[in-house]
Amino acid sequence: MPLRINSETRLLGLIGYPVKQSLSPAIQNAAIRKLGLKALYLAFEVKEEDLSDAVKGFKALNSLGFNVTIPHKLKIIQYLDELDTLAEQIGAVNTVVNKGNNLIGYNTDFYGIVNPILKKGWKLEGEKIALIGAGGASLACIFALKYLKVSELFIINRTLKKALELSNRAKIFGLKAEGLELNEENLKEVLKEVKMLINATPIGMYPNIKESPLGDLKLGNVEYVFDMVYNPVNTRLLERAKEEGKEVIFGYEMLIEQAKESFKLWFQIEPNFKVMVRAFFKEIKNYDKG
Ligand SMILES: NC(=O)c1ccc[n+]([C@@H]2O[C@H](COP(=O)([O-])OP(=O)(O)OC[C@H]3O[C@@H](n4cnc5c(N)ncnc54)[C@H](OP(=O)(O)O)[C@@H]3O)[C@@H](O)[C@H]2O)c1
Repeated sequence: MPLRINSETRLLGLIGYPVKQSLSPAIQNAAIRKLGLKALYLAFEVKEEDLSDAVKGFKALNSLGFNVTIPHKLKIIQYLDELDTLAEQIGAVNTVVNKGNNLIGYNTDFYGIVNPILKKGWKLEGEKIALIGAGGASLACIFALKYLKVSELFIINRTLKKALELSNRAKIFGLKAEGLELNEENLKEVLKEVKMLINATPIGMYPNIKESPLGDLKLGNVEYVFDMVYNPVNTRLLERAKEEGKEVIFGYEMLIEQAKESFKLWFQIEPNFKVMVRAFFKEIKNYDKG
């Protein structure tokens, strides 16, 4: 169905900095078009000093809401009217819904992690997990892993201080966690113990496609590998994992699951998942070259 734009069309968008490479407009507009909804999703590059004005603008223009990405996921909270309980616990917002001129913040990154794992039927209850990275995505990850009832989490990060801070945060929320510096020795030790490895760093992302957070280390006893990087689709880490016979979750699965949950919050309708996946693969071809 073609996207009809007229005076009834409601605005949706993404705010972040930068947003040039975002695939969200392609994914969301494909789902909107499929259902013939009166909305349009655009991406806006917003600097920190303009964040407050941008939020006011979305409200004044009677938008349906918007997504928030790096670097505004934490700072956006002060400009919102309400916070969903999960977003409040995580302390980060990636989706805002404009409900009767009330801006409500949600976190759908959580579902981006939980949904693909549940769909695959991976059983993580009582298992040890390694998480590489301690940034915003890792923050949502600790809540997802707590929800999935894992027994222990190793947070491995380039900057040890941040790994320790995040592991302390995980402990406050009742998850046994240890922070470690990202190096070969620590990785070797942790890989002996864990069932799943998650990459929540940009290592392996275009243009550094030959890189892997593991370097040349083998996955050993690890059974599941989840890479949040979605460009390229087949990262070096996931290629290696498949060669070693491991099960994998691709970064695009997370991207689309979180997009699906945002869509549901704005429209109260389930979007067509396959349409979103198709839009991703069509659009990523344009971005593979960076
Ligand atoms: N698939 C999806 O839907 C989805 C959703 C969210 C995020 N992501 C991806 O997940 C990754 C992390 O996102 P984020 O929001 O957590 O970013 P972030 O807040 O900027 O955190 C980045 C993390 O990666 C680490 N890092 C960055 N460059 C590194 C390098 N060259 N070597 C080692 N560690 C490095 C940082 O370590 P330091 O603390 O040492 O700086 C930090 O822990 C990004 O690639 C992002 O595209 C994907």
